[in-house]
Amino acid sequence: MAKKKRTTSKKQESKQPTSKKKDSKKLVSNTKKQTKAPPPPPTTTTTTTTRSCFQKITSCTCYIIQILVILFLMLFSGIPSQLGLFRFLAKMNPASVGLTPAFNVGIKDGYTFEQLDQLDLSGQTALITGGNSGVGFETAKYLFKLGADVTIICRSKERCVQAASTINNEQQQRQSDTTTTINNNNRKKRGKITTLIADMSDLRSTRDATIKYAESNNSTLDMLFLNAGIASAGKNEDGGLKLSVDGIEKVFATNHVGHHLMWKILESKVKSSNCGRVVLTSSASNFGSYDYGIATDLETLNAGEANMKAYGQSKLAQVLWAQELTRRLGPDSNVYVNSYHPGAAATMIWFTNPMIPKFMHPILRFFTENVMWTSLEGALTMLYLGAASEDLVTNNVRGKYFHPQVQEVIPNPKFAQNLQLQKDLWTFSDELIERA
Ligand SMILES: NC(=O)c1ccc[n+]([C@@H]2O[C@H](COP(=O)([O-])OP(=O)(O)OC[C@H]3O[C@@H](n4cnc5c(N)ncnc54)[C@H](OP(=O)(O)O)[C@@H]3O)[C@@H](O)[C@H]2O)c1
Repeated sequence: MAKKKRTTSKKQESKQPTSKKKDSKKLVSNTKKQTKAPPPPPTTTTTTTTRSCFQKITSCTCYIIQILVILFLMLFSGIPSQLGLFRFLAKMNPASVGLTPAFNVGIKDGYTFEQLDQLDLSGQTALITGGNSGVGFETAKYLFKLGADVTIICRSKERCVQAASTINNEQQQRQSDTTTTINNNNRKKRGKITTLIADMSDLRSTRDATIKYAESNNSTLDMLFLNAGIASAGKNEDGGLKLSVDGIEKVFATNHVGHHLMWKILESKVKSSNCGRVVLTSSASNFGSYDYGIATDLETLNAGEANMKAYGQSKLAQVLWAQELTRRLGPDSNVYVNSYHPGAAATMIWFTNPMIPKFMHPILRFFTENVMWTSLEGALTMLYLGAASEDLVTNNVRGKYFHPQVQEVIPNPKFAQNLQLQKDLWTFSDELIERA
C-alpha cells in the first residue's frame, strides 16, 4: 500500500504544471549554486543584449534593403542613363553596347525606322527562320509591309499559320487606313506571305523544307535571315547537354548547324540575286563562350557544360560563320553576310528557356516591359542588314557584327579574328550536316 501511495504521489507530481516543477527545481539548484559557485549573470541581461543585437542586425538589413530599393528605382528612373552611366559601362564592356534603350541614350541610331519606311521591296524575296515569334516575326511583318514576298519558317504549323494570318490581316488593315502612305512610297505591288514547316534542330526536317522552298519558289532569294534560336535545351537527367535527333548538342544544332545546311541548299539562289543579303541573329553572348571558343569535334561539342556557355558557343559560331562565308565569297561578291545582336529584347525567348525557373517570370516580365527593347526595336538592326541594300553596298558592309541600333561592334576579341577557328568551324559544320 505504502508503495502504491508513493507511486500515486509521484503520478500526482508528474501531473503538476511544468512551470511549478521548474520553479521548484530552480529553487533547489539555486540553493545548491549559492553554496557551491558564484551566481550566473542574470538571464534578463543576456536576453536584452541578444535582442538589441538582433534589432541592430534587423534594422541594418532593413536599411540596406531600403538603399537597394532606392538604387534599383534610381537605376530605372532615367537619371543614370541621362547622366551617361550606361554609356560609360558600354565603353568598359563592348558586350553591353546597345543592350537596352538606356545604353543608347545620347547615341545616334545608325539607321531608323523612318529610313526603312522609304524602301520599296516589292519584287524581292525573303526567307526567315523563326518567323512566327519575336524579332523574326517583326522582321517578316515589316518586310511584307515594304512589299517583299516573305516566307516564314517555323517548327509548329499552327503557330506558323497564325503568324502569317496576323501579318496578312495587319497589312490589310494598314492598307485600308493608310493607302496614301503606301502610294507615296511608290510601292509597286503587295508581296505574298507564305509558310514552311521545319524543325531547325533536325537536319532531315531542315533539308526537306529547304529543298521544298528551293524547288517551288523564284530562282532568286534576296534576303536570307538565319534567325531561329533557343537559349537553352535544358539538361539531361545526368546534368549533361541534351542532344538533337542527329546526336548533336541541341543548342548548337538549332542555332547553327541547321542554318549551315540551309545556306548550302540555298547558296545558288542567294548568289543569283542582284544583291543577296544573309543576316544571322547572333547575340552578345558570343563574348561568353567556352575557354576554347567553339568545339570543332563532336566529342568536345557534346561534352560541354549545360549552361549559358553552350548558347554563347552557338552565337559565336554564327559570328565566325558570317566572317568565314564573307571570305569564301570574296571581296567582289554580290552577297553581303553579316551578324548582329538584337539587344535584350522583349520576346518569348526569356520565357521558354528551361533554365529559368517559372517563379522568376514575374521579375522577367518587369524587365521585358520596362527595361528591354521591344521586339520591333530589337528587329531594326536585322531589318537594316536585310533590307537596306543600297546602304550595304555603298558602305561595303560585309562580314561585320552589329548591336542596336545599327552600331558596329568588334565581336569576341579572343576568337573572332581567329581565321583558323573560322575555317575549322566551317569544316566541322560540313561534317555535321552529313549526319542527315
Ligand atoms: N530576345 C533577346 O533578348 C535576344 C538576345 C540575343 C539574341 N537573341 C536571338 O534572337 C533570335 C530570335 O529569338 P527571339 O528573341 O525573337 O525569341 P523567340 O520569340 O523565342 O523566337 C525564336 C524563334 O525561333 C524559333 N525556333 C526555336 N527553335 C526552333 C527549331 N528547333 N526549329 C524552328 N524554329 C525554332 C521559335 O519557334 P517557336 O515559337 O516554335 O518556339 C521562334 O519562332 C534567337 O536566335 C536568339 O538567340 C535574342
